[in-house]
Parts: sequence; C-alpha cells; structure tokens
Amino acid sequence: MTVVFCADPLAPTRPDPHFAAQVRAVRDAGGAVALLDHDALLAGDLATAVRRIPRDLGEVWYRGWMVPAGRYAELADTLAGRGVTLRVSAAAYRAAHELPGWYAALAPVTPASVWTPWQPGESPSVEQVAELVAPLGGGPGVVKDYVKSRKHEWAEACYIPDLADVTPAHRVVSRMVELQEEFLQGGIVVRRFEDFARQGGRTVEARVWWVHGEPVLAGPHPDTPDLFREPDLSAITPLVAAFGHPFVTTDVALRDDGTWRVVELGDGQVSDLPTVLDPSAVLDHLN
Ligand SMILES: Nc1ncnc2c1ncn2[C@@H]1O[C@H](COP(=O)(O)OP(=O)(O)O)[C@@H](O)[C@H]1O
Ligand SMILES: [Mg+2]
Repeated sequence: MTVVFCADPLAPTRPDPHFAAQVRAVRDAGGAVALLDHDALLAGDLATAVRRIPRDLGEVWYRGWMVPAGRYAELADTLAGRGVTLRVSAAAYRAAHELPGWYAALAPVTPASVWTPWQPGESPSVEQVAELVAPLGGGPGVVKDYVKSRKHEWAEACYIPDLADVTPAHRVVSRMVELQEEFLQGGIVVRRFEDFARQGGRTVEARVWWVHGEPVLAGPHPDTPDLFREPDLSAITPLVAAFGHPFVTTDVALRDDGTWRVVELGDGQVSDLPTVLDPSAVLDHLN
C-alpha cells in the first residue's frame, strides 16, 4: 500500500502534522508514504504539487485535505504521466465528492434533493430559486453547494424555514452563494429538512468508513467526537455496495422515526478522521 499525504506547508519534506498519526499507521502496516503539495495543487501548479512524489510508484491512495473535483482530475492526469495511478479515478472521486454524483444511488436513504449548476459570485433571482425548489413542495429545507454547507451560519445561509415561502428562501440561498465566494463547488443543492435526533443542540451523526463496499468502521463525526451511537446500516449497506466506489464515508443520522439516514456521502480519501479513532482501523483495509 502506498498513500500520498499532504505535506506540511511550513516544512514541505514532512507530512502535514494533521495527518501524523495516519502516516504512522501506514508505515506500521508496512506501507509507503509520499507527499503532495496541496497549496500548489489548489493553485493549479501541478508540477510543484507532485514534485516530491516519486515516478513509477504504481497504484496509490490519497489521504489529505479536500480537492475540488476538477483539480483532482488534473492531479490524476499529471500522476498518470509519471507512472503513478490514483486508486480512485477522477470520475469516481467526483461521483463521491459532489452530491449529484451519489444522490441517485442513495436516494432511498437520504433527504430528497434538487440541484442546479451555478457559477461562483453570481446571485440567483427569486424566480430561479422558486423554480429550483418547486419539486420539493413546502416545508423546511437546507441549502449547500455540491460539497459543503454554511452550517455555522445556519439561520442566515443554511436553513430554509419554508421552501414554499419564496422570499425568505431566496434570501438564504443567495446568502449561501455569496458566503461561499469563489470557493462555491459545482452548484446549488437544496434538500428537504428531516428531523434528526439531537443531543445538547447537536445532531447525533456517525461517520461510517467503507472500503470496497464493506463498512470497516463506524465512529463519531469529527465535529462531535464525544457523541456516538452505533448506526443500523441494514438499509444503507446494499446501496453503498452498489455505488461501487472503493473508499467512501457516509455521515448518518438517526431520524426521529428511528430510521438511520445518510446526511452525506464523501470520498474516503478526503474525509476527516476524528483523532479519537485508531487510524489503522480504516487504513489497514486500503490494499
Ligand atoms: N436534510 C437535512 N435535514 C436535517 N438536517 C440536515 C440536513 N442536511 C444537513 N443537515 C444538518 O446540517 C449539517 C451540515 O450538512 P452537511 O450536508 O453535512 O454539510 P457539510 O458538508 O457542510 O458538512 C449536518 O451535519 C446536519 O446536522
Ligand atoms: Mg457534513
């Protein structure tokens, strides 16, 4: 197993300290580690990004900070020209990283959603928002881009009290787009809000790690490392297996009616692993 980690921006010959325990776990398992310059990748400087990745490494996994799907494709191409193959293809990465790529596969177990491609910095009109959300009918909703929400600006830019009340809905959607600035990923997603169990005001979410369609670890969500409830995955497992991606995570939450729902799916290479977990429990499966 070879894993490409992000380098420390302050000491580019060393792994980013955020991933130190994971690097140790890979080495302890007899795996090899190479380093990517993530800042250079985001800036589109591919030559610098891959400078420290040896040629002809063969197949590698990536573990690091999120990468926009377009940049990941450039990384895959650049590495391929050097005899290095990402185990997760650019197409598979995009499918896991962006909601429109995984939604159909998980539709029975995730909140109903609509989306539209969108240019960063453009402000949607009231009519455009009304048309986008119409298929969801009324009731509360949440808005995000294809990858991330503004959950920390919940009332202002994430939660929509009533999708049928178009003026406030438009205000929340527009604010999300505005706050994402040039980092808006792909487009606008609006989802029907579901009532998930909460504890101390926080949603009880578990992060499940899947390698080759098997759930190898269920642990807390990195935002709430002290909250965990073992999820029932019986309805979710066959759908993730059918999705056919080698390494994903699902964040799952318990709905008030007792059903476990998928809040989001992500590429396992860029999902944060809470420090309370032993990284070997996931990484040892990447062969
Ligand atoms: N459809 C939904 N119904 C209820 N709560 C939701 C819904 N979607 C998201 N949330 C809440 O908002 C938070 C952020 O949404 P999420 O899709 O995970 O965005 P991010 O990618 O920013 O983490 C979730 O952790 C959950 O608490
Ligand atoms: Mg989330």
